[in-house]
Amino acid sequence: MQHAQSSLTGRPVISATGLFTPAESITNEELVASFNAFVDRHNAAHAEAIAAGEAEPLAYSSVEFIEKASGIKARHVMSKAAILDPGTMCPRLPERGNDELSVMAEIGVAAAREALERAGRDAQDVDAVLCAASNMQRPYPAMAIEIQQALGIEGFGFDMNVACSSATFGIQTAADYIRAGNAKSVLVVSPEITSGHLNWRDRDSHFIFGDVATAVLVEDAAIAPAAHWEILGTRLKTVFSNNIRNNFGFLNRAAPESANTPDKLFVQEGRKVFKEVVPMVAQMILEEAARLGVAPESLRRMWLHQANAGMNRLIAHKVLGHEASEDESPTVLDTYGNTSSAGSIIAFHKHSDDLSAGDTGLICSFGAGYSAGTVFLRRAG
Ligand code: COA
Repeated sequence: MQHAQSSLTGRPVISATGLFTPAESITNEELVASFNAFVDRHNAAHAEAIAAGEAEPLAYSSVEFIEKASGIKARHVMSKAAILDPGTMCPRLPERGNDELSVMAEIGVAAAREALERAGRDAQDVDAVLCAASNMQRPYPAMAIEIQQALGIEGFGFDMNVACSSATFGIQTAADYIRAGNAKSVLVVSPEITSGHLNWRDRDSHFIFGDVATAVLVEDAAIAPAAHWEILGTRLKTVFSNNIRNNFGFLNRAAPESANTPDKLFVQEGRKVFKEVVPMVAQMILEEAARLGVAPESLRRMWLHQANAGMNRLIAHKVLGHEASEDESPTVLDTYGNTSSAGSIIAFHKHSDDLSAGDTGLICSFGAGYSAGTVFLRRAG
């Protein structure tokens, strides 16, 4: 049942979160073995051109490099065999009929069901669904509306994409509906099948991403369960950059010869991203903490975007004023890889139950756009 619009403003909280983790996982060892088999095939097929100096041979990837550069040891995926097959090297998820639940909606629904269950919330009492993710399976009908229907929710849903910051932008959007009195219960669902946009043949980035789905139930404190997280404040920021880019789009069919070039997948200038995003995000966190009257060193935990262990170490150090422990800034990169907008939500989902009433924490995302979002929280109940 949709809650009636109220003239009273609401106070947004996070009631619960949910997580769907694909059963299959790829270790760095498996990934590098497959990549290097592809390199051997490629170099053998182009041996003459390479010998004549007309083509550069491809170089091997390495487990040591991946772990040292990123902190990633494994990643969950929806289609392991096809990704590891050196002749395929991308997920193969068979198309489903229009009368079947699409795969992206399916994993979103699984995460959403867990959030609803943990909050003790009946789906019929949710007012809206936002599907906030880096890639949508199709332009329309919206994934959010399919998820809404599968869960039996009245009201409305829509999709939003702010790349790695989709989930935090979704949380602020949901919080604003509640602050304005337009909704009392909003699901922010982030199904991230990032294996589909990753170029598994690109040595510089083939190790980065993994698949997952998360859900965050944002509600008015008036109806939330006793144990919840007060949203102290949310802040969003975007600054245009080409350093993380994907040119895939519906207009590509106008130039079929370029429809499959590598720029139609994830491409980044990793070094520049690292250098430019770390100071931007640290400054944003410190400014927002000051605005909210939260002393940065009093933050009990930071659930940072999970792209790179080194970036998180630097950001946490700038905010806390000392090297953050795993307890202060937990990582899920090692087993999940970079799961785009879902990363900070997975960290929050897995590493927040032990905090006590009154503890403050921060969910923070950053990524393509550039885009960054902060959600300062205080544990209640
Ligand atoms: N295996 C072995 N060596 C590799 C390799 C691989 N898979 N990929 C690159 N290298 C080599 C490079 O060729 C280079 O060699 P050189 O020094 O002889 O030229 C060296 O390793 C360093 O490469 P570089 O790309 O500069 O690595 P890096 O230390 O910058 O780490 C990233 C790469 C991508 C992990 C890192 O830049 C990063 O995480 N940046 C931020 C990414 C991010 O957050 N993106 C957001 C995505 S949403």
